[in-house]
Amino acid sequence: MAGKPTPDDKFSFGLWTIGYNGSDPFGGPTRPPLDVVEAVTRLAEIGAYGLTFHDDDLFDFGSSDAERQTQIDRLKQALADTGLVIPMVTTNLFSAPVFKDGGFTSNDRGVRRYALRKALRQLDLGAELGAKTFVMWGGREGAEYDSSKDIRGALERYREGVNLFSQYVIDKGYDIRFAIEPKPNEPRGDILLPTVGHALAFIETLERPEMFGVNPEVGHEQMAGLNFAAGIAQALYSGKLFHIDLNGQRGIKYDQDLVFGHGDLPNAFALVDLLENGGPDGGQSYEGPRHFDYKPSRTEDITGVWDSAAANMRNYLLLKERTKAFRADPEVQEALAASRVAEIREETLSAGETYADLLADRSAFEDFDADSYFGAKGFGFVRLNQLALEHLMGARG
Ligand code: GCO
Ligand code: MN
Ligand code: MN
Repeated sequence: MAGKPTPDDKFSFGLWTIGYNGSDPFGGPTRPPLDVVEAVTRLAEIGAYGLTFHDDDLFDFGSSDAERQTQIDRLKQALADTGLVIPMVTTNLFSAPVFKDGGFTSNDRGVRRYALRKALRQLDLGAELGAKTFVMWGGREGAEYDSSKDIRGALERYREGVNLFSQYVIDKGYDIRFAIEPKPNEPRGDILLPTVGHALAFIETLERPEMFGVNPEVGHEQMAGLNFAAGIAQALYSGKLFHIDLNGQRGIKYDQDLVFGHGDLPNAFALVDLLENGGPDGGQSYEGPRHFDYKPSRTEDITGVWDSAAANMRNYLLLKERTKAFRADPEVQEALAASRVAEIREETLSAGETYADLLADRSAFEDFDADSYFGAKGFGFVRLNQLALEHLMGARG
């Protein structure tokens, strides 16, 4: 059975996750606020290694400089007492009324300038606390009405803003990279850069694309009906998986932010298999934080908050164990070979072969027996998937 989480597992949590008080559009809080010192202490106790936060999670929007500093000092003391680290920070450009039409892409230029200043301030704090990643989730960067937002103009303003951040980080000598977090909708009717694919394309237009990657969230891709593990594979393929938000989602509906594994479990199995066994020589393909961005359901009291936090890590470790067994099973190896899974890595043309050579190769077309695929030569993918599910269900070793 999977062991207890340790800091080597690199599990991190947002302060806004365990600190979620249960508010939703239909009802107020069901739990009291969670203090940052208690959050850090409890996370260290249950085996996490990192805490992440938005500026406004630590000090209320509109805090005085003194109030802000008091909270920063309390956090620093708690980190020193526990050994917990801050791998990532982010800015809240979505809660305060000033951001009702977005931050970097508000139609109001004054709001855009204010948003840039707020983000730069949080960038400074992140650097001070040793964060290596700055996440940008543009929850309010979007619209409800097609006529209300010039999307090309908004993308230009987003680009202007993030180009400024990369220049700032270079000039300051900070060791920080940026990770854009896509989401299709909620809170806006439509959000800019709605999927991993949109974000990857946008990044290539930036002045310093190497400083930007993505922070995909399980539920967000699934809200768009997409396969999360497949999106992560493409982010890895592009060298852009800078950070990841793990959670659970059950189908195309509002953003549930469930515990990791409490949504599409077979896809979570595929994801952990990819992250843990999809790298060179069957090792990790991603070595960054395993960050949980979930919300303890509003039905829970504080016991349920910490039970659910622990459940995220436990499910990840159980899935990791199950994927290792899957990879080690000789029958799985045989099924993978029968399904010719490794053959996709073979180049379709031979070394040095040109299209002229291909056109001259009668065995590739004129003599190729395409009819032999009718009623024969099945790929055996169903058997392979059944083996994966049996490992997932603990039915095989
Ligand atoms: C969501 C998002 C947010 C962001 C976070 C970081 O559930 O819509 O995950 O939680 O990740 O705000 O900026
Ligand atoms: Mn979410
Ligand atoms: Mn997220």
